[in-house]
Amino acid sequence: MAPAASSDDSVQPLCQALPWCAAKYIRFLIIVCQVIQNAPGLSIVQYRERLQLFRLGDLMHFAIRRISILVGLLLFAGAPLFAQQSSHAANAPVKIGYSLESLKIERWQTDVAEFQKRARELGATVLVETAGGDADLQYQQSQKLLRSGIQVLVVVAHNTDTASRIVEAAKAKKVPVLCYDRLIRNTKDVDLFVGFDSFSIGARQAATLAQRAPKGNYVLIEGSPNDLNAKLTHEGQMSVLKPLVERGDIKIVADSWSADWSPTEAYMHMTSAIASNGNDIAAVVAANDGTAGGAIQALQEHNLAGKVLVSGQDADLAGIVKILEGSQTMTIYKPISLAADRAAEAAVALARGEKFDTHRTVSNGTAEIQAILLDSIVVTRDNVKQTVIKDGFQKAEMIKQELPKDKWSLLD
Ligand code: GAL
Repeated sequence: MAPAASSDDSVQPLCQALPWCAAKYIRFLIIVCQVIQNAPGLSIVQYRERLQLFRLGDLMHFAIRRISILVGLLLFAGAPLFAQQSSHAANAPVKIGYSLESLKIERWQTDVAEFQKRARELGATVLVETAGGDADLQYQQSQKLLRSGIQVLVVVAHNTDTASRIVEAAKAKKVPVLCYDRLIRNTKDVDLFVGFDSFSIGARQAATLAQRAPKGNYVLIEGSPNDLNAKLTHEGQMSVLKPLVERGDIKIVADSWSADWSPTEAYMHMTSAIASNGNDIAAVVAANDGTAGGAIQALQEHNLAGKVLVSGQDADLAGIVKILEGSQTMTIYKPISLAADRAAEAAVALARGEKFDTHRTVSNGTAEIQAILLDSIVVTRDNVKQTVIKDGFQKAEMIKQELPKDKWSLLD
């Protein structure tokens, strides 16, 4: 990058011109003083006549011309300063606000850590606020971040419907907003979405199970009803399951939301589904690994774990262990390092006022939002090694600590 013009270069002509102009003005003032001193007590008209002897008109003309030149020089000298200011802004340290709904679920720790690492590499500082699953607190924390002079706000919204107030607060301060992983609805002012296609994730969860259990009773355990991702995942699942239901091959015997993606709620949903179906369940379409874990616990208590297919999402350590043990069928691995890196790069660009076209948009129901969508991968027992372990997303040693020894060979 070309270095910005130094302030010395830009003010040099001005410095050279100033003494010359100043000398002329001083000369003008001296003449005025001499006229007054030589003939005190004259009227203004008389003084003007006398000064005309000293070619006051010429001097006035000189003064006006020099003032214009001086203004010109100031503008000329100022222009590089302004340019320098904006090119300075382009290189100035960037301050990013990162508002995260909660750190409860394992993946978000990786998301934030990787984001911070990449942002630091790009010379940015990141102020992180975590709201512990409280939408009002997240709003307050976002306002605090906005007050602290951030140039861009990254939001993982707790409630994707009401978080539009965060976007509005940012907009009022002219701070661009990047929605990370969860797209905020009810606003047209989101600048960028970086995440995954939740509809396709849901479709692949259902398709993986339906391939292995083409007939039977299905239980659907969904995520948070306040999270657009959970709704899209459900829609994706239904896009696969509906034709099978219509054909009479499968029957959806339960379909429930789990507030805050709670594994405990998932456990309760599963317990009651088992009770009302007399253990006759072929598959559980669980929205993520946390809800899958809750469902598997209930299945274990009824000696059904490993006999009933279960989906998941996030490739959490516990999910991968269950896949290798055999109690969970699949998960969706989102390459989070990649997503977090792309988000950090985009956040820095937004902070610097750079406009970019992602050539892709997603609808949030109100507007088409520029989007960077990344691919996710279906993980089963057959490709754990080639995916999450190969990428270093999960470590074989950590998995082994949780896995019975007779299953270790799956990792060799
Ligand atoms: C969703 C996200 C999932 C999962 C869930 C619970 O928005 O897409 O990957 O982590 O939140 O935090």
